[in-house]
Amino acid sequence: MKAKLTIDRSSIISKIDNRIYGSFIEHLGRAVYGGIYQPGHPTADDMGFRKDVLELVRKLGVPIVRYPGGNFVSGYNWEDGTGPKDQRPKKLDLAWATVETNQVGIDEFQEWAKRADTEIMMAVNLGTRGPDEARQLVEYCNLDTDTYYANMRRKNGFEKPFGIKLWCLGNEMDGPWQICHLTAEEYSRKACEAAKVMKWTDPDIELVACGSSHKNMPTFGHWERTVLRECYENIDYISLHNYYGNPNNNTPEYLAQAVNMDEFIKTVAQICDEVKAEKGSDKTVNLSFDEWNIWFHSNEQDKKIPRWSYAPRLLEDIYNFEDALVVGTLLITLMNNSDRVKIACLAQLVNVIAPIMTEDGGCWLQTIFYPFMHAASFGKGTALRASAESETYDTDSLKNVPLLAASVVENEDGGLTVFAVNRSLDTDMQLEISGFEGYALSSHTELCCDDLKAVNSLGKPDNVVPAEKEVGGEITLAAHSWNVLRFAKK
Ligand code: AHR
Repeated sequence: MKAKLTIDRSSIISKIDNRIYGSFIEHLGRAVYGGIYQPGHPTADDMGFRKDVLELVRKLGVPIVRYPGGNFVSGYNWEDGTGPKDQRPKKLDLAWATVETNQVGIDEFQEWAKRADTEIMMAVNLGTRGPDEARQLVEYCNLDTDTYYANMRRKNGFEKPFGIKLWCLGNEMDGPWQICHLTAEEYSRKACEAAKVMKWTDPDIELVACGSSHKNMPTFGHWERTVLRECYENIDYISLHNYYGNPNNNTPEYLAQAVNMDEFIKTVAQICDEVKAEKGSDKTVNLSFDEWNIWFHSNEQDKKIPRWSYAPRLLEDIYNFEDALVVGTLLITLMNNSDRVKIACLAQLVNVIAPIMTEDGGCWLQTIFYPFMHAASFGKGTALRASAESETYDTDSLKNVPLLAASVVENEDGGLTVFAVNRSLDTDMQLEISGFEGYALSSHTELCCDDLKAVNSLGKPDNVVPAEKEVGGEITLAAHSWNVLRFAKK
């Protein structure tokens, strides 16, 4: 089968904001306890952080990590996770029906972030709490003043402010499952007032308002319009969340899910621009897709976890090869919408629906680690508009899904990178690329496996790993494969 990619190097989508390769650590399951933090583990550092995990997080290359939730944040008192560890309260976390020991809080996490070479995207609690505690946390983290919360940070041993620049105004407040869920009108007022006092405390911060928890929420659209109309001038981004899955084992349909992501992004961007026009504003509110991933494998096993456990194995999806292909197409979609999506977080990072898994005996990498790592390292630069021509197919819910999914990035070093997924389950694709005159293919990395359901594990960590293909002659994208084609100037 033949396919064609035509690139016009003067047709730019946008300079990519590297924060689209962000991720997420929530106080949930074994993400923090037994994940990034495990005092007594042979690899633990002076603060109890696992060095083997830190090394893999750095290898993945995430520029921001959202913290501390997620649903968890809507019942969280940030002060519980500060100060002397032996005085920190052990509390019920109602979001996940677990016990939170508060041995890690912002004091520790900001140190972990430094060691992981990443920045924090901090969420405030707009569930059980409100604007007052939010502004106090901004003061604690960011101010150098001789005032109560800045001094509290100093007393806890941190003279210099943490300098956290990106903040989320709550989490999924449209969802009935959220602790102290709000209507669109209630959330808009609360978020607007929180935004004002947070920015009055530190005018240099950027704020993300909650959008819908997913595209099929009954309030989708109404929620965004209401929030934007109320908060437009006080916020910088609106969030999108969506998880994908293959619960009915319909792989063609599953591989097409990026089409839904693309439509979701374009619809929210359009709502932002409608409100901009209504207001006659010259400011553009952009998008933060701060929770996306595959999440369905662990649904049944999670029902069996006893309530009030400490760091249980919650949301531990084991990802197979086809999941990695879907993650690849979702990354391509984020790059191709980089004119509006400025932040995105793979949810999550360690153990919980995660690319990195830990056991006492070591760490291992899930299949989805690889496309993400490729995108985060070679997807920096300027996204170019490319027209992809390929055969198409229909699924139960989608028509004309292209077999070729692709994005093109002009890298800062002058090279060009094409990311491509061949969605065909049985036919290789001969890819003709035009518009790359003066460049030659320098490498072709492929992630491909005969068994769509193949997984990695601690015992078999290299079952699904990328391989380098020989370059020269025709470019072939194998049936159901993820590909990274790197071009250098001749
Ligand atoms: O990432 C897991 C959960 O998914 C988050 O806590 C919540 O925001 C979303 O529903």
